[in-house]
Amino acid sequence: MAEFHVTPWDVSGKVDYDKLVKEFGTQKIDEGLRSRMAKLAKKDNVMLRREYFFSHRDLNLALDDYESGKGFFLYTGRGPSGPMHIGHLVPLMFTKWLQDAFGVNLYIEITDDEKFLFKRELDWDSIQKHAQDNIADIAAVGFDPDKTFIFKDSEYVRNVYPLMLKVAKKTTFSTTKAVFGFGNDTNIGAVFYPAYQVVPTFFEHKRCLIPNAIDQDPYWRIQRDIAESLGYKKTAAIHSKFLPPLTGTEGKMSASVADTAVWLTDDEKTVAKKVNKYAFSGGQATVEEHRKLGGNPDIDVPFQWLSIMFEPDDEKLAEIEANYRSGKLLTGELKQILIAKINEFLVEHRERKKKAVTGGTVEKMMKTGKLAKKMWETNFE
Ligand code: TYM
Repeated sequence: MAEFHVTPWDVSGKVDYDKLVKEFGTQKIDEGLRSRMAKLAKKDNVMLRREYFFSHRDLNLALDDYESGKGFFLYTGRGPSGPMHIGHLVPLMFTKWLQDAFGVNLYIEITDDEKFLFKRELDWDSIQKHAQDNIADIAAVGFDPDKTFIFKDSEYVRNVYPLMLKVAKKTTFSTTKAVFGFGNDTNIGAVFYPAYQVVPTFFEHKRCLIPNAIDQDPYWRIQRDIAESLGYKKTAAIHSKFLPPLTGTEGKMSASVADTAVWLTDDEKTVAKKVNKYAFSGGQATVEEHRKLGGNPDIDVPFQWLSIMFEPDDEKLAEIEANYRSGKLLTGELKQILIAKINEFLVEHRERKKKAVTGGTVEKMMKTGKLAKKMWETNFE
């Protein structure tokens, strides 16, 4: 098997998720835990059912806390390095399902500082523009405006600085070297930044549950090492795999390779063009061969995307899979199914985004909603 590499900044190669779980020291979500969660949530979720969210830390404890009435809260985030693609929306959609199901508070960190420090080519002004636009995309996902606080690191820092210092004081350079691979050429802002990504796990004394793709897990290792000594609980986390780039099942859909991603701003023609041109196909080279030999959905990106989120109906997905394997369904036809689904999704998303800005939802989640208001009145020490 080819080498693969997963860090919070970069994913390359064909990820062996079983191996990654061992390497990171997380646990796979087994059938028992999956059905417990669906039962408590009182509704099903396609990404959980199809094992796209596949790994966790202490998810069972977060569910225990929910059942015993102690409760938990949610925390996730986004680094505003550019416009958002569909891959970025995946953990957020799952987070919305969690908030709806469990009725809990949610904190969303927008790490303008992180992207400034880690991306040499990005200047402050463009990051601020991306942050503003990303926040509108995030608000469009439809979280509860009175139970959701979206904050930009550079703005909220005065409310959390003493707590951040406590986290920083507990974290040695040698830990960050081991966890993130920092070295002598890492700027000192970047070395300090992880303290800020840990801080929101302490916004409440309840247990925190973090929905994210597994690339962010290294931060939670640090959190879990120091949480109890600061008087808080070790965070729980639930991890997804990566939405693959259009070009194949290696790596992740990434902002740095524009044509391999579908952006939330891509119009209908662009989506069709991209999927037709770049989407890696498990089909055969000619129609005759395809009819005879059939296609391979396991390596086919359009099929993978349908199965991760765009075709939630199990029967329909099974039919697509069978027809593709048998050669009845051609590559071009499979791509058309995906194109229609993505476009339907994006048109609705953009409509919701417009409304989130003009209807005041963004304002509520950042400043005037119940939770946001309370957070601006709180100083963490
Ligand atoms: P960022 O902006 O790189 O990514 C935001 C979220 O999207 C996930 N993600 C993906 N999920 C599926 N498929 C993909 N191709 C894909 N690419 C990215 C990431 O795992 C993440 O959940 N440092 C963070 C910001 C942050 C954060 C957090 C994220 C701050 N606090 C707490 C999660 C939880 C970052 O730059 O994310």
